[in-house]
Amino acid sequence: MKVEVIKFDNMGRGIGYIDNKIIFIPKSAPGDIIEVEIIKNKKDYLEGKIINIIKPSRIRKEIKCPYYNSCGGCDLLHISLTEEMEYKLLKVNDILKKNNINYDVKEIIKCDNEYNYRNKITLKIVNKEIGYYISETHNLLPIDNCLLVNEDVNNLIKDLHHFNLVNGEIIIRSNYKNELLIIINSNDEIKNIEYIITNHNIVGIIQNNKCIYGENFLIQKINDYLFKVSYNAFFQVNINICEKLFKLIDEYTKNSKNILDLYCGVGTLSIVVSHDKENVVGVEIVENAIKDANINKNLNKINNISFICSDTKNILDKIIPSFDTIILDPPRSGVDEKVLKKILNTNIKQIIYISCNPFTLVRDLKLLLNNYQIQTLKLLDMFTWSEHVESFCVLKLK
Ligand SMILES: C[S@@+](CC[C@H](N)C(=O)[O-])C[C@H]1O[C@@H](n2cnc3c(N)ncnc32)[C@H](O)[C@@H]1O
Repeated sequence: MKVEVIKFDNMGRGIGYIDNKIIFIPKSAPGDIIEVEIIKNKKDYLEGKIINIIKPSRIRKEIKCPYYNSCGGCDLLHISLTEEMEYKLLKVNDILKKNNINYDVKEIIKCDNEYNYRNKITLKIVNKEIGYYISETHNLLPIDNCLLVNEDVNNLIKDLHHFNLVNGEIIIRSNYKNELLIIINSNDEIKNIEYIITNHNIVGIIQNNKCIYGENFLIQKINDYLFKVSYNAFFQVNINICEKLFKLIDEYTKNSKNILDLYCGVGTLSIVVSHDKENVVGVEIVENAIKDANINKNLNKINNISFICSDTKNILDKIIPSFDTIILDPPRSGVDEKVLKKILNTNIKQIIYISCNPFTLVRDLKLLLNNYQIQTLKLLDMFTWSEHVESFCVLKLK
């Protein structure tokens, strides 16, 4: 079937029409004329796969990754970086508009490095082969290199077969000293650990939550701050963008004295905003992350923060008017409605909402905008070449 791609949808897929029925085609670009195979035929829409590019869009560029056509990792590696930035602005503005939020996002902050920016990847192991899942499937695409990680991680990927694992998952985390932490989720016996630790800069290996070699954490560094990050604690995947995020947070909290940091992870944002503040409180559900946060406080010689290990919805009594800024940096699912309602009733002057999912950000904004107005909303290209984007939104009490 021949299709002309008209535009992108909000998941980074190209949209076209076949006999007036909408078709979504991953890894196509507006302006492409392509031959597609229909993969799904639903009542209201079709999903297709590119078989042949008859006439390429002018926004296409050379694809640097040999796995891209099948890999479920990147979505936009076939278009230029400028077009990708435009797409991300358009996507968020479209979601805002569809939800009747009258705000035009104008700025997206770029990452300084297009490739090798990720400090964490998750690889799958299926029948002894190691790689990523093929898009929309649980079938394995074996890889021995990924453009998104640095050379040391790529060298390790090439050697992972020495572990002789049959099925499971391997997560690799890296840091500023090029140390590597290997997290294995598999019930298979691990072989040749000596070979791996002799040939790579491994600080620890964890199997099924048990440390079997070295340490169960990494030390990360952003600007001059050091952070202990346990193997299972969240840490931002893109350090360069994180540095830029820290600058923004610092700028928008300079007039605040008391800050509540909900979903604080290992305490990164609490620590960054804490200088010349009276009191900062961080809340996080993962126990190991809170233990790290308390260590990070000491590592960075800070004594005006207290961390609480709890689900945010269980500490509603801690959301009190004496805080002048509340930071919300929730997971993709967004902020619990109970928490949002409590914030609305508390009249805290400023909210800084950091989001990796514009759909849940906008859902939550719809509620918060009853009492607040958007002072600024910018995007950060935390996940270059994927359709995902980070948002930084500051709200002021009306
Ligand atoms: C996007 S991360 C942000 C972490 C931190 N602000 C940072 O920049 O590193 C979201 C964090 O929320 C935590 N989390 C998820 N659900 C939670 C909940 N219901 N209550 C408290 N924390 C939660 C996760 O464990 C994770 O550390």
